[in-house]
Amino acid sequence: MHNLFGMAEIGNNIDTAQGLLQEGHLVAIPTETVYGLAGNAFNPDAVASIFATKNRPAFDPLIVHVANYQQAEELVTHVPEKAKLLAEKFWPGPLTLLLKKKSIIPDLVTSGLDHVAVRVPGKEITLALLSKLDFPLVAPSANPFGYISPTNAQHVENQLGSKIKYILDGGDCTIGIESTIVGFENGEVIIHRLGGLSVDEIEAVVGSVTVKNHSNSNPKSPGMLLNHYSPTKPILLGDIPTLLAENKNKVIGILSFKDEYSADYQKTLAADGELKTAAKNLFASLRWLDEQPIDLIITELVPKHGLGLAINDRLTRATAKKH
Ligand code: TXA
Ligand code: MG
Repeated sequence: MHNLFGMAEIGNNIDTAQGLLQEGHLVAIPTETVYGLAGNAFNPDAVASIFATKNRPAFDPLIVHVANYQQAEELVTHVPEKAKLLAEKFWPGPLTLLLKKKSIIPDLVTSGLDHVAVRVPGKEITLALLSKLDFPLVAPSANPFGYISPTNAQHVENQLGSKIKYILDGGDCTIGIESTIVGFENGEVIIHRLGGLSVDEIEAVVGSVTVKNHSNSNPKSPGMLLNHYSPTKPILLGDIPTLLAENKNKVIGILSFKDEYSADYQKTLAADGELKTAAKNLFASLRWLDEQPIDLIITELVPKHGLGLAINDRLTRATAKKH
């Protein structure tokens, strides 16, 4: 997977990142959730090259990243009261709001939809970069379309290093799964993607919400394809002892929540049993297993509450591929 030449430089120089972005180039940026592949949101050529670099279909819109609430407000026609409450409480943080866009946002960014996804990421170095720029940054997760999202600079380097010049290094992502996407319809709050901010935390601020996460054809979240976050190795989800017994003749890698098993390759998501720990380790563990000389990855769901809902969503999508 490593390139022998044409690698991206990894560093923490904000000026380098700023210069490249101003010239219309792409730069990988750290956030608290996952690393993003960033470009100038107002420059249609830069936006188009994000889709090309990731092999991402044009029907899958991009999230716009801004430095603060005021900048988000400038991009949209209206902010519903409940959206304001959530932004006030959780920005900077793993929350993306779907708001009616102004025409300054190119249609390419939203795949022609009239709402734009916007968030203030909770990562100092990226906030510092955003405040130096006079444009917002569109940034999808910095992985080839359909593959596991990157949670450190090396993950980005391994897959997109030959296609970009610079990776802004912010260390390991502290949340580890993507932002929660929230929309507003007739006063109702709708969760379009489960993510790093739990449903409970959102409901504590705005009351009960509707989760419309699991759809292949949800017009509001066109990128939520069932088959996503997938390793290249075959992967099965279920009861680990049963799956082990059924696959005795194979070289197995196990990804468990907290219990250890005797297998050739094995990762636990959270030795401490905490869902936060599991979220932080999820994508790096899947990547590690995908790189081992194994025939099959076997994994299990985690407890179904709090962040566990978002983790299970990713595990379900990662294992949905037919082999
Ligand atoms: O945590 C995150 O959100 C990361 C970091 C880099 O900020 N970004 C991220 O982007 O996960 P991406 O492109 O991998 O996933 C964005 C999701 C897609 O499923 C897309 O369909 C949805 O957001 N989305 C973006 N704009 C939308 C819009 N206008 N309406 C509905 N869904 C939208
Ligand atoms: Mg993604």
